[in-house]
Amino acid sequence: MRLDIQEHVPLAPLTTFGVGGPARYFTSAGAAADVIDALDFAATRSLPVFVLGGGSNIVLADRGFPGLVLKVATAGLSIESSDGHAILRAGAGEEWDRVVSLAVERNLAGIECLSGIPGSAGGTPVQNVGAYGQEISETLVSVEVLDRETQTVRDLPRAECGFSYRTSIFNSTLPDRYIVLAVRYALTPAGPAATRYPEIGRRFEGLDHPPTLAEVRSVVREARASKGMLLTPGDADCRSAGSFFKNPVVDEDTFKALEAAASKTPPRYPAPAGKVKTSAAWLIEQAGFPKGFSRGAAAISRKHTLAIINPGNATASDIVALAREIRSKVEDRFGVKLAPEPTFVGFDEPF
Ligand code: EPU
Repeated sequence: MRLDIQEHVPLAPLTTFGVGGPARYFTSAGAAADVIDALDFAATRSLPVFVLGGGSNIVLADRGFPGLVLKVATAGLSIESSDGHAILRAGAGEEWDRVVSLAVERNLAGIECLSGIPGSAGGTPVQNVGAYGQEISETLVSVEVLDRETQTVRDLPRAECGFSYRTSIFNSTLPDRYIVLAVRYALTPAGPAATRYPEIGRRFEGLDHPPTLAEVRSVVREARASKGMLLTPGDADCRSAGSFFKNPVVDEDTFKALEAAASKTPPRYPAPAGKVKTSAAWLIEQAGFPKGFSRGAAAISRKHTLAIINPGNATASDIVALAREIRSKVEDRFGVKLAPEPTFVGFDEPF
């Protein structure tokens, strides 16, 4: 077997939170065949498997992971034309922002607002990554996966991925079925840059030309940096998993009750099926947690209320304790139970 299996590997440095214990076994897979070998290794020993991408959306338990951590490192970026579109194929292990940077460099529109998001390309379909008015589900054509049931490589078209807000089959109905190997996105050559998110659109008011993809990329990166959502070495405010909670999507009656419970009108954004999306960050602030709030060794970012951070010496338990406190105060105050956005790895109890 050509697989290099390591033991007791510290995982905290492989995550953006920088917390959590070691992997009992660890391996990195650069091709489908390596993934199959790794799965065989785990199956023979009855070990649980956790698939690690860029480590930007996980909370890892202090005791670590008792099974095999499989880092998917399938590489490769290529572009082909098809029917007026450019199909960009990215290996799951490619750093996501390199993918966006390449698209923008080649003047291909469709993912420019997703600039500066930490993590790997393989993670993007899992939680249907979205920001500043774009979502991966708008451009994604298909996901190349290893089907763990049949041990074959398949191409899942978008329609089979079950996308909705921060959701796909990969993180909801079929979490253990597929391992993402590569993703294909259909981009528009010389297409217009998206500026539908008001915070971004405002930055281009009065401009004498339509903003270019590169200009939008740069403004999005600045916006993310100002919120601590751009990885900046040495900046504790971005030692996080990005947004810790999803924005609640509620029905009209629940939103009315929320309005009645609040002293100010909560933000409201349209959501599918007549529902209303509101702001988790706003609810958290109104429940008594200002930016920079700290509890034990964990804290809320000084730049954005939705990010719980590891200021330096936090453990996973510190982070989970603060997150539970926030969730319970928001529920007491507003009757809305916030759902976490990152994946929890190695914990005995669900969050
Ligand atoms: N707000 C506050 N306090 C804050 C920040 C925001 O009250 O500290 C309120 C404001 O009312 C603001 C509203 O929240 O109008 C929306 O804020 P923002 O534009 O920062 O977006 P968000 O809802 O906090 C979402 C995504 C981010 C994404 C941004 C930009 C989720 C869970 N989060 O955050 O995604 O970058 O929009 O599009 O949907 C992530 O998922 O990890 C992530 C960073």
